Amino acid sequence: MAVTQAQLKRSGVDHSTAEPLLIARNISKAFGHVQALSDAYIDVYAGEIVALVGDNGAGKSTLIKVLSGAHRQDAGEIVIRGQSATINNPNDSFDLGIATVYQDLALLPSRDVVANLFVGRELTNRGILDRRKMTEEANRVVRQLRTNLPSVRTPVRFLSGGQRQAVAIARVVRFGAEILLLDEPTAALGVKESHEMLTLIENLKERNKGIIVVSHNLAHVFRICDRITVLRHGETVGTLVKEETDSTEVVRLITGADLL
Ligand SMILES: Nc1ncnc2c1ncn2[C@@H]1O[C@H](COP(=O)(O)OP(=O)(O)OP(=O)(O)O)[C@@H](O)[C@H]1O
Ligand SMILES: [Mg+2]
Repeated sequence: MAVTQAQLKRSGVDHSTAEPLLIARNISKAFGHVQALSDAYIDVYAGEIVALVGDNGAGKSTLIKVLSGAHRQDAGEIVIRGQSATINNPNDSFDLGIATVYQDLALLPSRDVVANLFVGRELTNRGILDRRKMTEEANRVVRQLRTNLPSVRTPVRFLSGGQRQAVAIARVVRFGAEILLLDEPTAALGVKESHEMLTLIENLKERNKGIIVVSHNLAHVFRICDRITVLRHGETVGTLVKEETDSTEVVRLITGADLL
């Protein structure tokens, strides 16, 4: 579903010259006889947060997995920075600057924040691990994102769920991801941690990332997002500009109440 220029202006992002970082259109995906996605559409601009909402089983995670390369769509087109893109696997997605952060993150619990930020891409100096440089760089990223992590020397197993998620986000930001896909980032967090995670997501927006956030929590959605894309039975049934809508309308779209 297309969004008008007027709507975009009101969403708080300057879209006058910009093109979306990501467009996914007419995406379909079946698992056997379950049609998880039939006609899904979403787009996101740099410096924007788009919420992806819908009832259980609406296809939100499937759409995220198509964009992250975990699933290949049956049909439909993905356009990244104006170029048609093929995403066959997680590497393709990574190479396009897309990063996905799930709740069950692949972190190394016994290693500290520094090691987790650099895992697989350690900095070396004459073939030797450059601990000092990595620690400095880790502190820089953590400061930039204004996360509330304790020392970057803390083993990840001592961190809370929200702090671990912050480490995972810091890692993909350090790897240069411009498009961030967050599938229910606050689902397992308490009140204070959720608040901190939402602030971190707002910081990412300030850093000009394009962010798609799946959430069932409409209070969280309304606090941070610019636009809200609603999936129902695998189909995008609307994209709403936050300032022009309210939770009643969003719920109506999610449930299809008009249809009853
Ligand atoms: N790997 C899979 N194999 C078979 N069916 C699947 C698979 N993944 C998802 N589905 C089905 O596809 C549909 C969409 O699932 P999906 O996980 O995308 O929903 P969702 O919107 O993320 O829901 P929730 O809000 O509960 O997380 C569901 O009917 C689900 O059972
Ligand atoms: Mg899901």
